[in-house]
Amino acid sequence: MLGSGTVAQTLSAKLAALGHDVMLGTRDVAALMSRTELGFGQREPFAVWSQKHPQIKAGTFAEAAAHGELLINATAGNGSLEALARAGEANLNGKVLLDVSNPLDFSQGFPPFLSVVNQDSLGEQLQRAFPQVRVVKSLNIVAAAVMVEPRSLADGDHHMFMCGDDAEAKAAIRDLLTEGFGWRHVVDLGGITAARNMEMYVPLWLNLMGVLGTPMFSIKLVQ
Ligand SMILES: NC(=O)c1ccc[n+]([C@@H]2O[C@H](COP(=O)([O-])OP(=O)(O)OC[C@H]3O[C@@H](n4cnc5c(N)ncnc54)[C@H](OP(=O)(O)O)[C@@H]3O)[C@@H](O)[C@H]2O)c1
Repeated sequence: MLGSGTVAQTLSAKLAALGHDVMLGTRDVAALMSRTELGFGQREPFAVWSQKHPQIKAGTFAEAAAHGELLINATAGNGSLEALARAGEANLNGKVLLDVSNPLDFSQGFPPFLSVVNQDSLGEQLQRAFPQVRVVKSLNIVAAAVMVEPRSLADGDHHMFMCGDDAEAKAAIRDLLTEGFGWRHVVDLGGITAARNMEMYVPLWLNLMGVLGTPMFSIKLVQ
């Protein structure tokens, strides 16, 4: 797991509950453990969360990437390229990387804007920078809690998208989403260029969260 925030914690806890051996990656383990401030949405400090999940180890991005057979990028979009660089190509190459990140720029406050858009995306930037990594974009279009408990909404009768250039990698992510997390419908949008479409939905998602007053919603496709 590359990342230590809400998404990384939520996905890690779910994966550990499913029996996986999970290591979280961060820039500086000691700094992460010593943080006392509450996170976004009054999230408890990492050390408090960590005490409740003693089976989930924390390491550097490189240690976490070396540990994992399957990797997840759950870092802030403006830090994802740096996080993967810190992880190191030797620890990344050949592995499947589920990219759940979004290229959100909060420099001008809320709502954030997309720092890459239209003819490019963060998913594509990661794939270009690390061509030996098998990037699959998915889960970035729902809140962390929905990622791992899709059946908490409409008994799971709603849709998740994914995209990527590697068919085997997408099959592995489809298995994780359906058999592991309980997604009933996973729609393959095609190659990694579709990441731009999945990321460009996020401003609408933020708009909807404000209107609905909750992040607990998803997309259902009807034909
Ligand atoms: N929150 C949600 O419900 C949700 C839903 C869908 C998608 N997403 C996406 O998922 C990703 C994670 O979101 P989040 O809310 O869990 O956490 P976040 O606050 O967006 O990201 C925290 C992580 O990003 C890392 N990071 C930040 N700047 C970095 C840099 N310059 N270099 C390397 N790493 C850096 C942090 O590293 P340290 O550990 O070293 O601090 C930390 O692990 C984001 O891209 C977000 O847009 C979030």
